[in-house]
Amino acid sequence: MIELYRIYKEYSNGQTALKDVSLHIPAGQMVFLIGESGAGKSTLMKLLYKAEDFSFGRVLIGRVDVSRLTDYSKLRRRIGLIFQDASLLPHLSVFDNVAYILRAQGASEREIRFRVEGALNVVGLLERAKEMTQHLSGGERQRVGIARAIVTSPPVLLADEPTGNLDPVNSLKIFQLFKEINEKLKMTMIIATHDPRVHQLGKRIVQLGGGQIIMDTEPSNLPMFGSLAV
Ligand SMILES: Nc1ncnc2c1ncn2[C@@H]1O[C@H](COP(=O)(O)OP(=O)(O)OP(=O)(O)O)[C@@H](O)[C@H]1O
Ligand SMILES: [Mg+2]
Repeated sequence: MIELYRIYKEYSNGQTALKDVSLHIPAGQMVFLIGESGAGKSTLMKLLYKAEDFSFGRVLIGRVDVSRLTDYSKLRRRIGLIFQDASLLPHLSVFDNVAYILRAQGASEREIRFRVEGALNVVGLLERAKEMTQHLSGGERQRVGIARAIVTSPPVLLADEPTGNLDPVNSLKIFQLFKEINEKLKMTMIIATHDPRVHQLGKRIVQLGGGQIIMDTEPSNLPMFGSLAV
């Protein structure tokens, strides 16, 4: 569960990025966060993973009150992060990139194999496990980035413009993959994007404009479903 209650965010230069934003996302729900450039999407995400502090309001992730946290590492472990650029380690294989965080956490080799193979299977790259990441296409690289984000089974997945570097066909495939992950693994997910085609995916869409929520469409209210029901 993710909950924002009356969030205001003003940057130190006086720029107000979010104004009175309240949003409740139940556990296991997937939300697309859309809006024009500068609308506040990345700011909202950064508040959730504590890359920025908010000026006023309350943020809950699960039962954790983010503003009261002192040990951020615990919060970060509960959140899988995906960005426009997967920033893979070029000298490591696909497997080792995905395994990296587990090794850092001291997981056993047996657990690492089980988890990494599971994550690569989800993103469709199990056959490419031994390949070096510089041999992969942009879409494949982002799939490795997604595998890396889900390998620790975090309850929350946040993706900020995950398809920003991809062509339209690959972008749609990545959105479909997120949808499959949400349905299989039941993670609570927010995906920020400019791509208006996410309307086709039958998921909740929250639109930010000028730092405020200007539209919040539950899947059942989408016009596509309305017309099907007639
Ligand atoms: N570090 C910062 N310092 C000052 N102002 C900032 C900072 N980061 C963002 N802003 C401002 O806050 C507002 C929201 O920015 P944000 O990056 O959240 O938008 P966005 O919706 O993610 O845009 P984009 O689609 O271009 O990524 C913008 O007006 C931006 O200029
Ligand atoms: Mg952004």
